[in-house]
Amino acid sequence: MLLSLFFFLLIGNADGQTAMINVQGRNTISLNGDWNVIIDPAGVGEWQQVWREQKPQKKTDFFEYSFDNGPVLKVPADFNTQMSELTFFEGTVWYRKKFHYTLQPAKRLFLHFGAVNYLADVYLNGEKLGHHEGGFTPFQFEITNMVRSGFNSIVVKANNARQKNGLPGLGYDWFNYGGITRDVNLIETGKTYIKDYSIQLQKGSIDTVAGWVLLDGLHSRQKVEISIPELGIQYKAVSNDEGLAPVYISSKFTLWSPGQPKLYKVIVKIQTDSVAEYIGFRSIETKEGKVLLNNKPVFLKAVNIHEENPYKKARANSKQDALLLLSAAKELGCNLVRLAHYPHNEHMVREAERMGLMVWSELPVYQHIDFTDSAVPAKMGAMLGEMVQRDKNRCGIIVWGLSNETYPGASNRSNALVELTKRCRGLDSARLIAHVINSHKYQGNTFEVWDTLYQYSDIVAVNEYAGWYMPWQGKPSDTKWKITCHDKPVFISEFGGEALYGSKYGRADEAANWREEYQEKIYKDQLEMFATIPNLAGVCPWLLFDYRSLSRLHPVYQQGYNRKGLLSEKGNKKKAWHIMKAYYAAKEKL
Ligand code: GCU
Repeated sequence: MLLSLFFFLLIGNADGQTAMINVQGRNTISLNGDWNVIIDPAGVGEWQQVWREQKPQKKTDFFEYSFDNGPVLKVPADFNTQMSELTFFEGTVWYRKKFHYTLQPAKRLFLHFGAVNYLADVYLNGEKLGHHEGGFTPFQFEITNMVRSGFNSIVVKANNARQKNGLPGLGYDWFNYGGITRDVNLIETGKTYIKDYSIQLQKGSIDTVAGWVLLDGLHSRQKVEISIPELGIQYKAVSNDEGLAPVYISSKFTLWSPGQPKLYKVIVKIQTDSVAEYIGFRSIETKEGKVLLNNKPVFLKAVNIHEENPYKKARANSKQDALLLLSAAKELGCNLVRLAHYPHNEHMVREAERMGLMVWSELPVYQHIDFTDSAVPAKMGAMLGEMVQRDKNRCGIIVWGLSNETYPGASNRSNALVELTKRCRGLDSARLIAHVINSHKYQGNTFEVWDTLYQYSDIVAVNEYAGWYMPWQGKPSDTKWKITCHDKPVFISEFGGEALYGSKYGRADEAANWREEYQEKIYKDQLEMFATIPNLAGVCPWLLFDYRSLSRLHPVYQQGYNRKGLLSEKGNKKKAWHIMKAYYAAKEKL
C-alpha cells in the first residue's frame, strides 16, 4: 500500500496539486452558481489578457472586453446547452467569479475543481494559479498566500477544442460538452491537514485493511486516529516526518456487495483536522476464468452509461442526475455500470456504491489516440493518477478500464498501454484492470479474440456488434470462439444496435429502418450466442439511454443521437429493453 502512495506523490498534476479527496467531508464554500463569461471563439482573450480585468484609469483608456454586464453561465454545467450560440461551440469561454473572503490566520485555503472540459487555465486576482488538462478529473490550487481579505476574483479559461494529442483525441462518439462541468469549491483546512488516505481491504483479504494516511503541513509528525464506531475500532498511529502513517486494521467486516451494499462511517482524525465518510469493504479477484466478489463467483449484469442527463440533453453533474441514470440501471436488473468512456462525476460513483451497483471506471484513451506524441504517455499517467486518487476508497469500483478500442497496429500503442497498466497496478491492487478491444476476427461464424494487452489485463473485455455492424455468419448458437488468454474471465463490454423508439416504417428485418424489432432480434441472437462463450463472466449492452453524438447524422432516425439505447432519450423502453430485463432476471435466479 505504501508503494501506491509513492506513485501518488510521483504523479501530482501538472501545475496544481493532487486534489484532496472527500471534498464533501470537508469545510467547503461552494462557488457554484452564476459566473460571468466572455465567449472567445477567436481566442483573442489571451492577447487581451482578460484575466487582468483591467479598468480604464485615464480618460483616454479603454479595454475591448469586460466580464461585467456580459453573459452569465451556470456552474456546474456544460456551456453548450446554456446559450443557443454555444450549441456546437468548441473553443474558449472565459469564466469569472467574485467571492468575498475573510482571512483566517490559522487556516489554509484551496480552490478545487471537480472537472473542467478540456483545458483549464486558472487565475486569482490577475495572477496565474496554473493549468490543467483533462475533462473528467479533479484538480486544485492552494491559494492561502494569494487570497485577499475582502473581494477576490477567479478567472478560468475553459477550452474544449479537440486536441490531436488529447485524451480523447480528435474523434469520439459522444457530445463534446465544454466548460466548468462539475462543482467548484473553496476548501478551508488547518495549517496541517489530512491531505489523503487509502482505507480498503488488502488484496486477497476479507478481514484486513492495509492503507495509509498522509498529512500535509507544518506539524507532519502527529497522532493519527482512524475510528469505525460501528465496529468499535479506534486505530492509532503516529505519522512520520513526511506526514505518513501506515494503517493496518483487522476486523470482521460485513462485506459490501450488490445484495448488501454495507458502508461504514470512517473518521480520520488528527489534532488539527478531522474528515469522515462512508467506506465499504469487499474483495474482488479473478480465478479460473471467474470474477470473484468476496470469494464468490459473480456474473456481471452490466450496462454502459454516458454522463448525460437524457431529459436535459446535457452533461450530467448532480446527485439527481446520478440517481436518474443509476435507477434506470437498477430497473434493468444490473449489478454493474460501465461509466463510459471517461471518469464520471463523483456523485455517480458514490451513489452507485450506495445503491449496490458495482462500477467500471474508465480513462478516455479512446480509439484514435496519438501514442507517438511524446506528451501522451505522461498525460495518460496523470489522468490515471487523478482517477485513482479520487476514487481509491470507493469499494463499488471493481474495474479500472484503461483503454477502449485503441488500434493494435498504432505505433507505440501497446508499449504505452502496457506501461500504463503497470503504473495502475503500482497505484492500486484492490481492483481489476481491463483494456477493451474490438480488433477480433469474425470469420466462418468464429470469433478469434486476441490482443497483447490481454496478457496484462485481469479480464478479456470484448466489444462486438454481431447483428449490427457485422451481419451474422451463421446461427448465433453455433458460434465458435478462439480466445487466447483462455484462463481469464470474458466480459462482453459492448454489443447491441440502433433503433428509433416507435419507428414503424419499412420492413422490420431491414437495418436501415431503425425498427425496434430489428434491435430486439439483435438482442435475442446475442443472448443465444452468449451461451457459446467460454468463461463468460458478464455482459454489458451498449447502452442504457439514446445519447447525443455529433457522429450520428441521419435526419430521420438519428437527429444527432446514437440510438443504441435500450431506452429512448425520453425514457421509453424499447422492445430490446425487455429482452435484457428478462435475461438479467433469469441470471438472478442462478
Ligand atoms: C464503439 C464505441 C462506442 C460507440 C459504439 C457505437 O464500440 O466503444 O463509444 O458509441 O461503438 O458505434 O455506437
